[in-house]
Amino acid sequence: MATTQWHETMHIDDLWDGDMAPVEVDGTKVLLVNVGGDVKAYLNRCPHQAWALDEGDLDGETLTCIRHMWTFDVTDGTGINPDDECLTTFGCEVGDDGVIRVDVG
Ligand code: FES
Repeated sequence: MATTQWHETMHIDDLWDGDMAPVEVDGTKVLLVNVGGDVKAYLNRCPHQAWALDEGDLDGETLTCIRHMWTFDVTDGTGINPDDECLTTFGCEVGDDGVIRVDVG
């Protein structure tokens, strides 16, 4: 069984509620999203044609890829349109020190 390897990214004070930010974690492009104070980490590549998702539009809980307008629910990474695709999800936690840590596996 793989062990969790947390990598420090940014501080929660720099990622406000309703905001998203691209970070690189151990060579992997990651998208951090603050959804109502809950931080999520996804692969920063659209499952359609790998466009950078941080260039898209985040409206509440819906992320729209700017390339061909696919939409995703950022609370869990599921696809809205189309609904048979989803974002790649990574483990993510906010430490007591406010640092967001991500495990890209
Ligand atoms: S690359 Fe994102 S919708 Fe096509």
